[in-house]
Amino acid sequence: MPPYELLEFETPDALAQAAATALLADLQAASQAGRTFSVALSGGRVARLFFERLAEQARAHVGVFDHVHFFWADERCMPPDSADSNYRLAQEGLFAPLNLPASNIHRLRGELEPAQAVVQAEAELRELVAPDAKGMPALDLVLLGLGEDGHVASLFPGAGPDVVNCPAPFLAIYDSPKPPPRRITLSYAAIAAARAVWVLASGAGKAEALRNSLIPGGQTPLARVIQQKMAIKILCDPTKEIACKQIA
Ligand code: 6PG
Repeated sequence: MPPYELLEFETPDALAQAAATALLADLQAASQAGRTFSVALSGGRVARLFFERLAEQARAHVGVFDHVHFFWADERCMPPDSADSNYRLAQEGLFAPLNLPASNIHRLRGELEPAQAVVQAEAELRELVAPDAKGMPALDLVLLGLGEDGHVASLFPGAGPDVVNCPAPFLAIYDSPKPPPRRITLSYAAIAAARAVWVLASGAGKAEALRNSLIPGGQTPLARVIQQKMAIKILCDPTKEIACKQIA
């Protein structure tokens, strides 16, 4: 039994719709159980589509976000009103359309020096998200995109042990091959501690990265996440190389 569930969709929009439906179901279950829900968001093209579909579907579920706290899997080091800010992407696609309260939104401070932003981010996460047995805050869900090189969040191939083995929830990246070079990202350890990890692997050019991530002993950042964590849900578009199918 592979440590992941692979779900194939006909189009990026169908993928985004399914991810939105699944998240709303989890949020409703948490709300009915009287639990808060913490989710870390990513950026990128699929995230934009996902936020739009989630905002559309959520209109039929008044109050579903009342006890949801939004964090980020990564952020580019730039002011929050920058066109390429991951916070701005979610603000425009999801928070503003649904008028979600700022008190539930815990953005990474891209405008600060990265090291300072990392300290602030960890403090805010620890205020709201209880730690697991190893002391790592255990997010309910981490939503990841997949890069053409197999990166997730801002964890890129070829990173050194200080990145790969970082014991803190967040770390600063100064040499991202995907612009901009300076970013803040969740660590592998924080992703591993999450109760659920969903990967939205959408768009042309991801097939090779996905295949290289699924093979035993894969070396991509996504492969590392898969190898360190059970029960990952991977939602992908159809690709000629990979016959993604739902694993029963
Ligand atoms: C970022 C993202 C990054 C993204 C992937 C996929 O800040 O750039 O968090 O991890 O999710 O690169 O991006 P696309 O969906 O645009 O291919």
